[in-house]
Amino acid sequence: SNMPSWAIVSIAFVAIILVLACCFCICKKWIFKKKNKKKGKDKGKNAINMKDVMDGTKTEALKDEEDAETGLTETEKETTPKEDEKLGKLQYSLDYNFTENTLIVGIIQAAELPAMDMGGTSDPYVKVYLLPDKKKKFETKVHRKTLNPVFNEQFTFKVPYVELGGKTLVMTVYDFDRFSKHDAIGDIKVPMNKVDFSHITEEWRDLQSAEKEEQEKLGDICFSLRYVPTAGKLTVVILEAKNLKKMDVGGLSDPYVKIHLMQNGKRLKKKKTTIKKNTLNPYYNESFSFEVPFEQIQKVQVVITVLDYDKIGKNDAIGKVFVGLNSSGTELRHWSDMLANPRRPIAQWHVLKPEEEVDAQLSTKK
Ligand SMILES: *[C@@H]1O[C@H](CO)[C@@H](O)[C@H](O)[C@H]1NC(C)=O
Ligand SMILES: *[C@@H]1O[C@H](CO)[C@@H](O)[C@H](O)[C@H]1NC(C)=O
Ligand SMILES: *[C@@H]1O[C@H](CO)[C@@H](O)[C@H](O)[C@H]1NC(C)=O
Repeated sequence: SNMPSWAIVSIAFVAIILVLACCFCICKKWIFKKKNKKKGKDKGKNAINMKDVMDGTKTEALKDEEDAETGLTETEKETTPKEDEKLGKLQYSLDYNFTENTLIVGIIQAAELPAMDMGGTSDPYVKVYLLPDKKKKFETKVHRKTLNPVFNEQFTFKVPYVELGGKTLVMTVYDFDRFSKHDAIGDIKVPMNKVDFSHITEEWRDLQSAEKEEQEKLGDICFSLRYVPTAGKLTVVILEAKNLKKMDVGGLSDPYVKIHLMQNGKRLKKKKTTIKKNTLNPYYNESFSFEVPFEQIQKVQVVITVLDYDKIGKNDAIGKVFVGLNSSGTELRHWSDMLANPRRPIAQWHVLKPEEEVDAQLSTKK
């Protein structure tokens, strides 16, 4: 051949690079697919014993696991081709009351939901809100270990009819998980201008793959609840918080937690944790006890507020949650589990909500 040897060497070199690049791409795709599949299955591991949560090491391990799970970047998640996943379906009803100016949303039932837990079931509940307003959100009760939950709950949005057309109803089905972020199974979006309100609409729709919740992330808090009926003693252990929203520009926060015992909108008792300096992931493990006689326990509320300590200005609330009377969704679930398991501490993670949203839900008779 009359080709110079340097040309042959460089052609061979380029060819090898191309083959390697192809291999790399194929492997990468394959690995990410596996990872995505694994994500669903791994969830069962999170179902650890309540007692273990009291032991800080376990929660650390959980945190790492979650971080590993969310290791995928946004683009990688999006480019993974969506298989025709069956997400189940939801039956709901829509009605508009023209005298009251209210939209009445009935969450009737879901069917054929995918299994999100190891045991082949899910613990589904539904969140309902009317975009663009993300603050007012309703949640159904959590139904345990079922893929065909019957909810039969109604939620009412006060909204003038002329404004209704510009809004979109979102109903998202979640899988409740005590120890990690709750997974959205799927959602249904109904533009209100497509609905005929001259009669009640009742229909089944297939769940679509849900987008991430658009609400601003305020962070999560883990606390345990324990009630001893004979002694009339309610114990709240503030365990830890994570991913708290930064309140100061540049710096971290100095978070502490306030615990209010409330009844009839009145604050009966107030306690607070120590301040943890310069962190967004504080660990407290601090215990607080309240005297609540058995006749009163169904009537009280425990409000947990995470604040950023500020030496000069007002301490800002980062977010809050409440359990007890009139709580809903996962908070109600935690409270019911406490009542159903007297003398046993029950720990659970909660997503912090905006202060105004929680205050609106609390029965605040002044
Ligand atoms: C949390 O506090 C309890 C009671 O004070 C203690 O027994 C336990 O060891 C603490 N856990 C950790 C991980 O610090
Ligand atoms: C609207 O609500 C009022 C008050 O709850 C009720 O009396 C009335 O029957 C409702 N109207 C319709 C059309 O459902
Ligand atoms: C709280 O619950 C009580 C009893 O179930 C109920 O009468 C009251 O209307 C509720 N308050 C709010 C603000 O939902």
